[in-house]
Amino acid sequence: MVDDWRISNRVLQIQKSAIHEMTRLSKEIDDVAFLSWAKPTSDTPEHIKKAAIDAINKGKVGGYSENNGLLELRKEISKKLKRDNNIDSVPSQLVVTVGAVEGLSAAIMALIDPGDEVILPSPTYSTHIQQVVLASGKPILVPTIEEKEFDLDLDAIRKSINPKTKAIMYCSPSNPTGTVFSEKTLQELAGIALENNLMVITDEAYEYFTYDGHRHFSIGSIPEMKKNVVSCFTFTKSYAMTGWRIGYLHADETLIPQISKAHIPFAICAAVVSQYAAIAALKGSQNCIKDFRNHYLSNRDLMCKRLNELDSVFDYQIPRGSYLMFPKILLDEGSDSTTFCKKLLKDARVSATPGIAFGPTGEKHLRLSFCVTEEMINKAFDRMERYFN
Ligand SMILES: Cc1ncc(COP(=O)(O)O)c(C=O)c1O
Repeated sequence: MVDDWRISNRVLQIQKSAIHEMTRLSKEIDDVAFLSWAKPTSDTPEHIKKAAIDAINKGKVGGYSENNGLLELRKEISKKLKRDNNIDSVPSQLVVTVGAVEGLSAAIMALIDPGDEVILPSPTYSTHIQQVVLASGKPILVPTIEEKEFDLDLDAIRKSINPKTKAIMYCSPSNPTGTVFSEKTLQELAGIALENNLMVITDEAYEYFTYDGHRHFSIGSIPEMKKNVVSCFTFTKSYAMTGWRIGYLHADETLIPQISKAHIPFAICAAVVSQYAAIAALKGSQNCIKDFRNHYLSNRDLMCKRLNELDSVFDYQIPRGSYLMFPKILLDEGSDSTTFCKKLLKDARVSATPGIAFGPTGEKHLRLSFCVTEEMINKAFDRMERYFN
């Protein structure tokens, strides 16, 4: 840890992100085959951009909106939650946030006291770990079951609960493993939360990207869980709106004013221009979601096929959702995933994210993104085949 009296212990505890480190190193090398970023490569659909430009031209975006977001947007979100997530809501149960990430941060700030434990099925999106640490909570990483496609280990979760446990936080479909937790599993998880008076915080960023008949299930749709869930969503992935920084959360009506108290000092409100864009995203054609999904599915199949040809180097679980996968490195050098990925970058010009970035259970793995072009996947695997053979 850096010894600098100026810096808070909370921030000092946060590890530098391996994702950004790999991005930086990748920029130093020419013509890298890039599989390390989980960002949609498509541009935002035209009708969404046009709605934002119209809102600017009509002088609608120069001021703040209501802290919890434009009422018109919250009404559209409410319809979407009913249609796609089976969650009943009214606008007073919603906060429009600066992406899913700010919603998750505000929820954690509102729910977690210093020393409270938060169970995170692991490997997990590293930002979740950092968010808990920033709230002075304690992340408790509970390994998922790799041989079962990184499914939740409900017994292990039960065993890790103690009087300090306050919440369980997960993302499904998962970054980094691509796992989609089934309705049955999440019903059981809900039972555990209810028995132990725990909150559940969800990150449903990849809700629309599921394959092979696996379906996304929102734990917030279980009526008995009404008071125990904060569900976080985003426009980032569904509508290729990464840079617009717009998302939303749903929670019980009595929680919203408290979450809002945490949201305001971070953001006051989400960018108003992005809120108008989000209204257009929800009201307009949903075809882009279908197109993105089909593209990711065909890329997933290609990546799995190419991985099969490298079966002495990698073993993998088929990702049933998201656009990420998390192969295990079978070679001895894989025991240090950071060195492995740096060497892969330098010697084969392929950029992947070291598994350790997703918690200690991620070691010996690397994360690959198939949210790229088919050509990029083929280029990366042609290079890896030459490198490893
Ligand atoms: C699981 C997960 N949650 C949230 C985000 C970021 O979402 P947003 O841009 O809405 O803050 C990402 C981005 O990669 C992600 O993978």
